[in-house]
Amino acid sequence: MVFTTLLLGWYGDNGRDLPWKTYKDPYTIWVSEVILQQTRVQQGEAYFRNFISTFPTVRHLAEASVDDVLKLWQGLGYYSRARNMHKTARKIVDEYGGMFPKDVESLKKLDGIGPYTASAVASFAYGIPAVALDGNGYRILARYFGIDLPLGSPSAVKTFRELAVSLLPEGKSADFNQALMDFGSLVCMPRPLCVSCPLADHCIAYNTGLAESLPVKPRKAGHRTRYFHYLDFGQDTFTFIGQRKGNDIWKGLYEFPLIETSMPATYPDLIRSERFRILVGTSDYVLNNTQALKPHKLTHQSIHPVFYRISITGPAPNLEKEYKKVPREELSKYAVSRLTEKYMNFFHNFAGL
Ligand code: ADE
Repeated sequence: MVFTTLLLGWYGDNGRDLPWKTYKDPYTIWVSEVILQQTRVQQGEAYFRNFISTFPTVRHLAEASVDDVLKLWQGLGYYSRARNMHKTARKIVDEYGGMFPKDVESLKKLDGIGPYTASAVASFAYGIPAVALDGNGYRILARYFGIDLPLGSPSAVKTFRELAVSLLPEGKSADFNQALMDFGSLVCMPRPLCVSCPLADHCIAYNTGLAESLPVKPRKAGHRTRYFHYLDFGQDTFTFIGQRKGNDIWKGLYEFPLIETSMPATYPDLIRSERFRILVGTSDYVLNNTQALKPHKLTHQSIHPVFYRISITGPAPNLEKEYKKVPREELSKYAVSRLTEKYMNFFHNFAGL
């Protein structure tokens, strides 16, 4: 496996000197990993030293008050992690005789220990062949192997895990996991240093110019992308607007007739649509202007807007039935979204167009 050989070669020469690397006991490794999930290595070192000198063993942690643990944790944030550590320390002392379990599955059953931490502890403390992929690992593998699955998706989790397992060197899981972390922090960073990367010759992302666009970021949960096509139908000095209804954004605000699509659509797509045909009826129309504005970001959605300025001649009964026909110069009297306002402002001599 060229990847593993090159990575471990790099690690042998460039691995970082980090305080937790000198420990082989699961308690200390666990503490370091939980702290490092919360902060960067530089700040994490100080917290780690302080934590370990205050609570040198799992028994010390179990016997402390939760307030003392929280005090030490102060500034790291996400205090439930500290509470979980305290709880788990007590459980290990009370139920496991002070000894950490020695396999990934049992470790995962402890409060606050997920698949990553369980694998990190298992490999660093016991040399168990487990892969501990954090953000660094995903980034490196996505680039080197040219994987464009969105991180966090079920197929990505499976693909990366299987790939990493296939790359794991026998008897060297700890070095492999630690090498990924160090390499991801020093070379294959979010903005990578490809010029000094010993893996670049074999890296698919580097060789196809994709190093900065991989890995593919996860889609935000519940985030919607919507395509809004606004039809600004001009009839003499008038245009048509309607009030938004339904349980959606901008309810009650006015806007131009809208065709919404869930995928990008072109003007020819629109004029072929049923909705467009209903709106224009048998009238003649001509497209005067197309204005695509920047995506409009809302908390859980981004809207990709395009405004079409269309002159329509002849009767437009459906437009008149469904929308309000307003003189263009009176448009500013109506409450509109910031997006529609932007479009209106865009045409400085809007009223005259
Ligand atoms: N981030 C998480 N775990 C780490 C480790 N063991 N070394 C460096 N960075 C890390």
